[in-house]
Amino acid sequence: MIEVSDYTIHGWAAPGEERSRWYCSRLEEGHILFFPETPFDLPDEARAFLIGSRQTSATYHKNISFRPREGRVRGLERGTADERRLGGILAAYSQRVTRFSRAFLAPYTRGLQLDFASFRSVEERGRDLPLKQRNDLLHTDAFPTRPTNGNRILRIFTNLNPSEPRVWLTGEPFHVLAPRLAGDAGLDECAEAARSRWRPLRRALPRLASALRLPWLDRSPYDRFMLGFHDYLKANKVFQDSTMKSRWEFPPNSTWIVFTDSVPHAVLSGRFALEHTYIVSEDDLVLPDRSPREVLEKLCGAPLTN
Ligand SMILES: [Fe+2]
Repeated sequence: MIEVSDYTIHGWAAPGEERSRWYCSRLEEGHILFFPETPFDLPDEARAFLIGSRQTSATYHKNISFRPREGRVRGLERGTADERRLGGILAAYSQRVTRFSRAFLAPYTRGLQLDFASFRSVEERGRDLPLKQRNDLLHTDAFPTRPTNGNRILRIFTNLNPSEPRVWLTGEPFHVLAPRLAGDAGLDECAEAARSRWRPLRRALPRLASALRLPWLDRSPYDRFMLGFHDYLKANKVFQDSTMKSRWEFPPNSTWIVFTDSVPHAVLSGRFALEHTYIVSEDDLVLPDRSPREVLEKLCGAPLTN
């Protein structure tokens, strides 16, 4: 973990172009960037309202989520005054954290896509969730319904809890783990699918489906592997018990940034965290040879993205 001391809520302490690139490289190597004080504005009334919000059902919706592009909140009762106010607060949060990420991680700005934001109001310790949804087991992130085709999942977290830390475990980054575990996790099958003579047809199907306005999930061999790897790590008791781990406590009002598709992470305890997800274009990475796609393609020798 690297503590950031030259960027605060007031911006860079000195012209930040070089520093910005350096911080991106640290992220891509698998470090967490940590801000002891949140580097963007979160008004007190927004904090108080969020802490008072309750989810409809913590089992049906894992978190309260917000989709910036549609302005839609999920996980609260529809059409209530609370839902509208929360939508406004999360929209303002999304704008501020996005402005911050563009300034702090400038090399990613060009191809940066806003994914979802979430508010995690439920205590994580002792949460009863099905295996694949458990947060307390080390895993790398992959989204079943939003394949990235080699682009990266970057997440910014803020601990809104006024008194308790949020406690995480992290493991060795993807470029260290993959040579050891990717074979067992099914890389050969994905490489075989990538080399299949039917692949040109598979690649054409999403375009055909979209021309016919049919829903079609365009999941590349890379996305299939990453989704399988998420499940593989969670189900692998030997890995969970014996892999090298670091334990982190993120204090109240701290913020941290991490590529969650390459840094295995688990949350042990804490409630009231805000999170924003971004998709970083693979073209904007400063250390492309550390990207999971590049690591996997080197291991299997097949092109995995569409
Ligand atoms: Fe995760």
